[in-house]
Amino acid sequence: MNLTKLALLGGKPVRTQPFTAWPIYGKPEEKRLLRTLHSGKWGKLNGPEVAGFENRFATMHGCKHGIGVVNGTVSLRIALLAAGIRAEDEVIVPTYTFFSTASAVVEANAVPVFVDIDLDTFNLDPKAVAAAITPRTRAIIPVHFAGQPANMSAIMALARKHKLVVIEDAAHAHGASYRNQPAGSIGHMASFSFQSSKNLTSGEGGLLTTNDDKLAEACRSIHNCGRIPTGIWYEHHVISGNYRLGEFQGAVLNAQLDRLETQTKTRNRNGQYLASRLAQLPGLHPQKRDADCTRHSYHLFMMRVEGDAFGAPRGAVIKALQAEGIPCSGGYGLSLHHQPLFRNQAFGPYLPKASTKLNYQKTHCPNSDLICREQCIWLEHGIFLGSRSDIDDVTHAFEKIHENREALTGWSKKQSAK
Ligand SMILES: Cc1ncc(COP(=O)(O)O)c(C=O)c1O
Repeated sequence: MNLTKLALLGGKPVRTQPFTAWPIYGKPEEKRLLRTLHSGKWGKLNGPEVAGFENRFATMHGCKHGIGVVNGTVSLRIALLAAGIRAEDEVIVPTYTFFSTASAVVEANAVPVFVDIDLDTFNLDPKAVAAAITPRTRAIIPVHFAGQPANMSAIMALARKHKLVVIEDAAHAHGASYRNQPAGSIGHMASFSFQSSKNLTSGEGGLLTTNDDKLAEACRSIHNCGRIPTGIWYEHHVISGNYRLGEFQGAVLNAQLDRLETQTKTRNRNGQYLASRLAQLPGLHPQKRDADCTRHSYHLFMMRVEGDAFGAPRGAVIKALQAEGIPCSGGYGLSLHHQPLFRNQAFGPYLPKASTKLNYQKTHCPNSDLICREQCIWLEHGIFLGSRSDIDDVTHAFEKIHENREALTGWSKKQSAK
């Protein structure tokens, strides 16, 4: 325990060394990239990298099919189109997620219906999902938020009962598992992202997984200008586009994938350790680990801080952590349904309009609103790729801030009065 003055108030920071930088890369990426360059085969349809990666990634995630695409936003839209979502169908999404989970629904001409999350796990609350189902509901997109799989047994049971399609948004969940089943293999389809912050990255990129041959065929056609395997090159069957992942990204992803298993184990171990340490401080609530979560990929380490119980408000705690050398943020500032895009229904040429739920001002998601407004703190996954002593530094920073909570609250009050 470190009782010295807070770095924010002029003391010595807990940590001056940076944490593990992301992305991690080296000779394997270089070798594959140069091989791809010199092969002259840079497109998905004539090179080996993307095809090889699709197979390896799908197999690791318990799936028969993997379809590499340009990003994890397009993959969600392709999944919706492949599932036969039609104009004005309703699709249930959590309101605590990145905008793509819901914008993809609008871009599929369907209606996103926002539901609240569980305050402990930060994942979709199955009771809220059940209450949001109407005769127009066609699909649910659970997000495995931060890398902890959503409550898939409850969600799949609802889907079976109401004949709904489930598309896992697994953008945070590479290598995670639920009851020992890989994330991405539980719903009808799943969408992964390889954008630069993600646990597996090629700068940009995405991938669809499924075990359903028909859905895989539909996704393949939609990501490839509506072509079909038996058709000729200039023959197009469905509205779609060129959403194919390129060979340079495939090359990087193959090299990155060789490291995923070890990195996921390290993040999972360090994340669990930090959660056990932080839970001992009053008013700090690390994301609750569901018993069904057999592996958490810790794309983010999330927690709630209850200002009154901890003794200082969230905003001040974040500033103090940053000054102690712990990179962190408050995450999303707004639940998605409060974003101007949805509040103003700025949907451009897209048509969703049938549902009364479209008056998003009536959407009520108090848990998500609470954590956005005043409670959530995010730590990024690079921190969890280091050693146990890195995690001890994070713990010490929190302990030091808690010891100095009165001084921090005084500082915070002065800042607000300015
Ligand atoms: C939960 C979630 N879904 C979807 C996406 C979209 O992925 P991409 O940025 O690859 O389009 C992201 C990316 O941040 C995300 O966090």
